[in-house]
Amino acid sequence: MIPTIQPDDYQHIIFFTGAGMSAESGVPTYRGHGGIWHQYNWEAYACQKAFDRDPQKVLEFHELRRKAALTCQPHDGHRVIAELEQQHPAVTIVTQNVDGMHQRAGSEKVIELHGSYWRVRCSRHGVTEDIGEAYSGYTCAQCGEWLRPDIIWFEDMLNQTVISQATSAIAQCDLFISIGTSGVVWPAAGFPEIASKNGARCIEINPEPSPQSQFCSDVITQAAGEVLPKLFDLCN
Ligand code: APR
Repeated sequence: MIPTIQPDDYQHIIFFTGAGMSAESGVPTYRGHGGIWHQYNWEAYACQKAFDRDPQKVLEFHELRRKAALTCQPHDGHRVIAELEQQHPAVTIVTQNVDGMHQRAGSEKVIELHGSYWRVRCSRHGVTEDIGEAYSGYTCAQCGEWLRPDIIWFEDMLNQTVISQATSAIAQCDLFISIGTSGVVWPAAGFPEIASKNGARCIEINPEPSPQSQFCSDVITQAAGEVLPKLFDLCN
């Protein structure tokens, strides 16, 4: 049963998204059927030690992911969220996704917890945007250092500014909609509990139950792209 939400009944709405949000666009998830971490060992591709050992191999892996993401398009669910953001002043998207799909659908207020495929960073010269299948270069034009994808990998410290922004937005929300996350990666896994303890109405959209389901009054076990237009009565 999919409830109908009237966005004007709420002051602050958070869409909290994980890889399942992009699944119907064709971007593989990490842990589900066909998930990236079943195919690739993260210790060889998605941690600082792997990058230090063989930066070229890690960058080539990320180029494959970028190329795959660029063949995918945002779906109706992404578009519903972007449309609501235009209509409603207090919509914030907190995403674990690094594929930029929300922004491609037109969303602007996106807090990226785990970074982005579309940025690289040099420890001396900072972060730069780099959009395209291939990286514009593997090394920093100013100092020659290997450029690291600006992504939070396994064993990385999170960006505390980004986490504080997300936590404070979530603590203030009165509607929290969790979409397509297995809820096993912290601190993001704790966000539904924070929202629920602060009195927000919590809704989960995920075909599979997750550890977050217990904090949600509405658990909708269907796909994001099908549910979101119905949830906000934007089917036409
Ligand atoms: N609609 C909604 N949910 C879906 C859909 C769909 N169409 N398809 C799959 N899902 C759900 C799955 O049931 C699963 O619970 O999406 C979830 C995807 O889980 P994960 O692959 O673990 O992705 P995520 O929770 O985003 O992973 C968190 O782990 O390695 C990392 O840094 C990476 O940001 C990622 C983090």
